[in-house]
Amino acid sequence: MSKVDVVLGTFFGDEGKGKIIDYLATKSDVAVRCSGGNNAGHTINVNGKKYAFHLIPSGILNSNTKAVIGNGVVIDPKVLIEEINELKANGISVENLYISTKAHIILPYHIMMDKLLEANRGSNKIGTTARGIGPAYCDKYERCGIRVEDFISPEFSKLARINIANKNKVFESYGYETLNADSVIQEYEEYARILKPYVVDTVNLLHDYLDEGKKILCEGAQATLLDIDFGTYPFVTSSNPTIGGICTGSGLGAKDIGEVYGVLKAYASKVGEGPFLTEQDNEIGDTIRELGHEYGTTTKRPRRCGWLDLVALKYVVRINGITGLAINHVDTIGKLPKIKVCVGYEHNGEVTTHYSTNLDYINECSPIYEEFDGNFGDISNVKSRNDLPENAKVYLNRIEEFVGVPVKFIGTGAGREEMIIC
Ligand code: GDP
Ligand code: IMO
Ligand code: MG
Repeated sequence: MSKVDVVLGTFFGDEGKGKIIDYLATKSDVAVRCSGGNNAGHTINVNGKKYAFHLIPSGILNSNTKAVIGNGVVIDPKVLIEEINELKANGISVENLYISTKAHIILPYHIMMDKLLEANRGSNKIGTTARGIGPAYCDKYERCGIRVEDFISPEFSKLARINIANKNKVFESYGYETLNADSVIQEYEEYARILKPYVVDTVNLLHDYLDEGKKILCEGAQATLLDIDFGTYPFVTSSNPTIGGICTGSGLGAKDIGEVYGVLKAYASKVGEGPFLTEQDNEIGDTIRELGHEYGTTTKRPRRCGWLDLVALKYVVRINGITGLAINHVDTIGKLPKIKVCVGYEHNGEVTTHYSTNLDYINECSPIYEEFDGNFGDISNVKSRNDLPENAKVYLNRIEEFVGVPVKFIGTGAGREEMIIC
């Protein structure tokens, strides 16, 4: 049995990672978030109650699972405290929550900068979540970021004062309001006091867990086509939600990684701007959005919807070394009478199954579709792949055959139990 399993998003996020993690957490001792911040929104439905996680690993819902926020995450302390309080109010213990000393802190100037940069991009905007994610990662790489260990130390006020003075110069130059350093520091020192008890050296903690024979689950946020290196740049997030980000964002080594589950929907969705070749900006897309309740967990924006793109999925499988697929919303797509899947691109008169994130290339490609019969009927109570209706089997078999990776989980509804484990 592998020591570390990984759950990754395959396309543009919101594939239902939370639900798969929720199940796998019951088989794990530890759940770790490795990258991103509160741009993520992972929904889990338990007995009719909806939990939305942004920063805390959603594995914490399993009372025996330890939840670790790794060094690769950018943390908005205010949001984290809200999330802790909400869990406590719902009777969920946060005693098993651990925050890395090396994670970076999102401060108000990051959020202001995110909004300012988006406004300046005008029609070229990225459609960020406006949570300060990009600017916080910029500061990390610029080496002026404030890490959790600095945040909870007396050094914080000094570091924050320097940064606020520098950022204020930029805000001033754009005619924006500036920040009052004293009030920001006072407010955030209080947050630091609240979060300090959860802060530990998570690298040693995770390796000690491995030495004790504990099973670790790495909970991916965002997804491969949003990756800063492998996604549709610049319409991406500012971190590596792919397999490499799991190691750099946690301190875990590659040799301990076993299963890498790629989570996808039986169709495709996206929030924010950028290329989306199989998008159905028409009645079909509208129908999928309504059937799948495709509105963002974090920003409530309506998600752009379209057909599943197997050419892109093959690329995603290669990049991450995906060993198993988790296909959610099979119930949703099965409500349509006919389903299309992209199995090739036509580019300059030639057919290819090679994906590229080059924006010109994507714009020049047109998708080649195969059509499948839908009308799967109610599959919410089906517990074995063999018992699925023939049309659903044909659809899933084709996906599996195209990318050469077995389907391990089939989502048959939003509820915790509505899943086939293959
Ligand atoms: P994540 O960010 O990848 O964790 O996904 P989100 O939680 O943002 O979005 C996925 C949405 O789909 C949530 O509302 C889930 O409750 C819902 N969902 C997940 N799996 C299924 C499924 O198999 N069927 C249906 N109908 N809904 C699902
Ligand atoms: P989960 O973990 C969907 C998208 C934003 C925007 C782009 C950059 O729930 O799947 P950012 O605020 O990160 O600078 O925005 O990335 N984005 C997501 N879309 N699900 C997410 O997370 C996302 N995290 C970021 O919409 O297009
Ligand atoms: Mg989400």
